[in-house]
Amino acid sequence: MLDSLKVTVLAEDSVPYESPLLGQHGVSFWLEATAANERRRILVDVGQNPDALLYNIGKLNIPLAQTDAVVLTHCHYDHTQGLAQILRAIGKRDVPVIAHPSLFRPNFITAPFFRHVGVMQGDEPADVHAAGGCLFPVVGPMQLMPGLTTTGEVPRVSDFEEVGIALSTIDANGRVVPDTMPDDIAIEARVKGCGTVIVTGCSHAGIVNILKHSVRPGERVAGIIGGLHLVEASEERIAKTVAAMSEFSPSLVAAGHCTGFRAQAAIYAAFGDRFATMGSGTVFSFTA
Ligand SMILES: [Fe+2]
Ligand SMILES: [Fe+2]
Repeated sequence: MLDSLKVTVLAEDSVPYESPLLGQHGVSFWLEATAANERRRILVDVGQNPDALLYNIGKLNIPLAQTDAVVLTHCHYDHTQGLAQILRAIGKRDVPVIAHPSLFRPNFITAPFFRHVGVMQGDEPADVHAAGGCLFPVVGPMQLMPGLTTTGEVPRVSDFEEVGIALSTIDANGRVVPDTMPDDIAIEARVKGCGTVIVTGCSHAGIVNILKHSVRPGERVAGIIGGLHLVEASEERIAKTVAAMSEFSPSLVAAGHCTGFRAQAAIYAAFGDRFATMGSGTVFSFTA
C-alpha cells in the first residue's frame, strides 16, 4: 500500500478560474506516490501539444527529469502526441514507457471523413527509443511499486458500455474492422487509510468495467480521476453508468476531458460535492 498519492493534472481540456496555465484537448497527469522511504514519479499520458504541456510543467515546477516511468493509457493522439519531445525534455536514457502491445496499430475514424487518431508520426517506436524511452509492451498489469499498478487489459463485462466512438483498425488480413480499444488501461493506486484511486485517460474500456476489474471486494474507492468518454453517450448509458458507479460509493469523481457536459451534470446530480471538475494544474492528494 502507498502512504500517499498526489495527482497533478498537467494538461486538460479546461483551465481553472484565474489559472495562468494552458489547456488543450487531451490529458496528462503527474503522479507522485510514496511508500515507506520510496518515492516514485509517474507521467501518465502526454496530451497532444507538447509545447503547452512543457509550459505547464515549468509553471508547476514539476521535476520532469525525475520521471521514473511513463504510462500511456491508450493510443489516441490527444494522449500520446509529442511523446518523443517529452522524453527528450526528461533528458534521460532508458525511461520506461509502459503501454499495451497494440499501441502502435492503425486506429482511425471514417466519418465524417477518414482520419488517423492513433499514435502519430514522430512518436513511433524508433522515435521513442531515440528519445531515451524504453518500451515495455505489456498486456496485463504492470506493478510500478507495491500499491501502484496499471490495470492491464480490462475485461468487458457490462452490457451497456462500449468504446464510445466509432473507431476502426486493420486486421491481420488487411481488412478494416471495428477497433475495440484493447489498449485502454488505467492506473490503480491503493493508499493507506484512503482506499483505491483510479486514474484513467479516456475509459474506452468503460468506467464500470474498469471499476469491476480494479476494485477488490470490500475496498473503498477514494477517487476516480480522468476522462469517462461519455461525450456522445445516450442518456440511457449515462444513467446506467452513474447508477453502477454509485454502487462503488466513490469519495471523489473528478471527471473531465471526454466525459461530456451531460454526463458531468448527471454525475454532479448523483454525487454532489463528491464530484469535481478538473483542469490544467488541479491537484488531488490522498494521504493516510
Ligand atoms: Fe482522450
Ligand atoms: Fe481516447
